[in-house]
Amino acid sequence: MRLVVGIGLRAGTPYAELEGAVAGLPGEVELLVTLEGRETEPALQQLADHLGAKLCTFSEEELGKQTVPNPSDQVSRLKGTPSVAEAAVLAAGAELLVPKYKTHNATVAVGRLPAAGYGVHEQEVVHRVIAERRDVREGFLQLEVDDEKLTRVLEAAHRAPSVGLSQPWDFLLIRDLATRTKVHELAIRQRDLFAQSLPNERRQAFDGLKIEAILDAPLNIAVTCDPGRGGRHVLGRHADPRTTWFSAAIAIQNLWLAARAEGLGVGWVSFFGPQEVAEVLGLPPHIELVGYLCVGYVDHFAPAPELIRSGWAKRRPLSWAIHEEVWGRRSTSIVDDAHEAAPNAVPATGQRIRVVVGGDATNLASAEALVVDLHEDKPDHDFGVLWRPARTPEEAEEYGVEIARDLALQGAGHLDVRTATDSPAAKALAEGLKAGASACGLTHSCA
Ligand SMILES: Cc1cc2nc3c(=O)[nH]c(=O)nc-3n(C[C@H](O)[C@H](O)[C@H](O)COP(=O)(O)O)c2cc1C
Repeated sequence: MRLVVGIGLRAGTPYAELEGAVAGLPGEVELLVTLEGRETEPALQQLADHLGAKLCTFSEEELGKQTVPNPSDQVSRLKGTPSVAEAAVLAAGAELLVPKYKTHNATVAVGRLPAAGYGVHEQEVVHRVIAERRDVREGFLQLEVDDEKLTRVLEAAHRAPSVGLSQPWDFLLIRDLATRTKVHELAIRQRDLFAQSLPNERRQAFDGLKIEAILDAPLNIAVTCDPGRGGRHVLGRHADPRTTWFSAAIAIQNLWLAARAEGLGVGWVSFFGPQEVAEVLGLPPHIELVGYLCVGYVDHFAPAPELIRSGWAKRRPLSWAIHEEVWGRRSTSIVDDAHEAAPNAVPATGQRIRVVVGGDATNLASAEALVVDLHEDKPDHDFGVLWRPARTPEEAEEYGVEIARDLALQGAGHLDVRTATDSPAAKALAEGLKAGASACGLTHSCA
């Protein structure tokens, strides 16, 4: 434990008294803190030397800002601050562990400091690799990935957190061209199916996108998950079996980041049913595919995600993702925000989406259609149906804003808003959709 000791003392306090006051503390004292001017006291200096601790001071003003559990009128009169020992501990950024106690000439309080993070430069490197990791589908070089590098990258993946330390992943390394060709055929088939499901404009944009590098990258890695690994009593998995797959996905993220740091590109391909790939790879029935990765040296790492650079999608602002204490509570109302943003919104171009509020899956015949289902019962899963059983019209309006904003991030240019029922929730959600659309520069119409 990293300790900080706050000391208020009279001039001339004997060293032995201070040494006795801090004897037997439950950790290493890193910092001695006191009121500005007191650092010249010989006993304090000697104590700092004895403990190998740094001696720091705070001004009356800095100490006076701290809210301490045991303020003293007498100290306030004499020193201009209601506390020295406790206030100095808090001012040092520590949590108060032992409230102030007195010796004949001194007052002492002890705090514990948070464990140290990395130095600024190292922090920057971590954030840089996170920011500069890219999903790479182009520019792979026909160079073997050397074993040492690959081992380091796999070690990073293998160090990932996992539920109950079950380590449910395995890494199947695929270099064989015949196997990769079979996997590639699966991806091409799914690519075609997806293209056919898109509205015309969106299909044209999709045609220009590369979505895999299975044959270009010399190495493919199938990351699998064994949902039963470790037997019956894996700690933390019993209540939520999904944690096994989360663990494997985190391993992939570790792999991805380490690969970026090593100058290796990684592209994740999910254009196939996991079972189809499992069959091609001959996975045993109890093993499931989590991620299929194309890995290799690349000629460059793009500065931004390909889907952003091509205009296919946009980044969601962090503030949209943060809720305070209760879902939906934000520092300002998103409906008010939307109305405020509308006059300055940059006009967006993109696909037309017909949003049927209060409809159901039967309204999905056209590829342009999207349904907002307001029923209490959860509908069958379909990405064309957004289930929003709003509890109040206010909540419905917020959902409308959110849906519109998120559609704007996925290439929408116009919302054609229709209401299939005239319930207050449907009307409010439709209003929210229009407000959200205007805030993002989308045009809208209604019927
Ligand atoms: C689970 C998952 C599946 C993905 N599947 C594909 C895919 O099939 N094809 C593709 O081109 N990119 C795929 N990606 C990459 C994303 O498109 C990419 O991460 C996103 O656009 C952000 O870009 P960035 O990774 O370069 O930051 C996938 C990413 C994840 C996390």
